Amino acid sequence: APGSPALTPPMGWNSWNSFGCGITEAQVRQAADAMVSSGMKDAGYQYVVVDDCWFDPQRDAQGNLRANPTKFPSGMKALGDYIHSKGLKFGIYQAPNEVTCAQGVGTYPGATGSKGHEAQDAATFASWGVDYLKYDWCSGSGTLSEQVERFTIMRDALRATGRPIVYSINPNSFHAPTGDKYNWGEVADLWRTTEDLLDIWQNNNTNSYPMGVGNVLDVTAPLAAQSGPGHWNDPDMLVVGRPGLSLTESRAHFALWALMAAPLMAGNDIRTMSADVSAILRNPRLVAVNQDPLGAGGRRVRDDGATEVFAKPLADGSVAVGLFNRGGSTTTATQVGLTGGSFTLTDLWTGGTSSTSGQISASVPAHGVAVFKMTGGSPLDATTARLRSTGSGRCLDVD
Ligand code: DGJ
Repeated sequence: APGSPALTPPMGWNSWNSFGCGITEAQVRQAADAMVSSGMKDAGYQYVVVDDCWFDPQRDAQGNLRANPTKFPSGMKALGDYIHSKGLKFGIYQAPNEVTCAQGVGTYPGATGSKGHEAQDAATFASWGVDYLKYDWCSGSGTLSEQVERFTIMRDALRATGRPIVYSINPNSFHAPTGDKYNWGEVADLWRTTEDLLDIWQNNNTNSYPMGVGNVLDVTAPLAAQSGPGHWNDPDMLVVGRPGLSLTESRAHFALWALMAAPLMAGNDIRTMSADVSAILRNPRLVAVNQDPLGAGGRRVRDDGATEVFAKPLADGSVAVGLFNRGGSTTTATQVGLTGGSFTLTDLWTGGTSSTSGQISASVPAHGVAVFKMTGGSPLDATTARLRSTGSGRCLDVD
């Protein structure tokens, strides 16, 4: 949204994918510790976001939200102070409805949503040092105009606090299909484009809950043009390192989310992750592609069914290119051309370089992504770079 503090896609960790409604203060503190000790903080991860189920099921006598005293005994201000003491930022969760989603489905007691309490809750969050609000539509009903109205009320309430707070909304939970049809860029800094992503490669039965990596990609890729500094498509938190994905699938998921300029919110248990998983999340070359200041959302420039090509123009005139193999067996020589001379090709997984006159080919394992940065040739004008196909073949080119 205008004035957004999120000029590049937010990076952090969110409690939901690994802890769900069971999240406790101790676990959040440990996650903050792990963000530092794992090197994620140095790699660029900042926000530690407590998702649903942190609050007392009753507001206090003045109608203020407060922490669940059993689960978060030190309170949210103290938790925010702890997160800040690590050089990290503090994120919290609420809903624009009477209930949060867990309350709505009956897995958590109370009815403490922000509806009718927006200014009070925004002020509470600011007083706790909150830097990021995830605001989650939790109602089985509601028109798009109602959603726009309610999400805008909280946007304005956050602004009125004077504290820069990243505003992350989910218009889509329980409410497909409005979220993927409306451009929320005036309202929020990032908005979910799909139902929840689980650690599933592909759900062949539905493009609704539970979604796999391929399902979320298919819904979000056509929306690439909406993404840019301060207004990001959010294809949901990462499931990198979650048990349902192989390492190859986690790598592909991470590369595709990096190329889409997606927020990179880790959802695995970062306290116990393997060195391989940590290395995926911290890959400096892919993080740099994701955080590129141009903020272009990567586009699907070629779709051959099992193999696809994604390309993301970068601020320095180079292009990040992902060769994606959705199929079940290794494939070779998926190619894309960039016209205009000779290029340096950097393999973003390894950092190794080679040169090319414009073609890229790679052997890509099943469910894998080979990903490169192409630099050189006739420089692309970063503001007008277009990715298109030509009659003689598919090319990255400048319009
Ligand atoms: C639905 C959202 O899509 C999830 O990410 C999570 O925030 C849950 N609600 C919490 O109840």
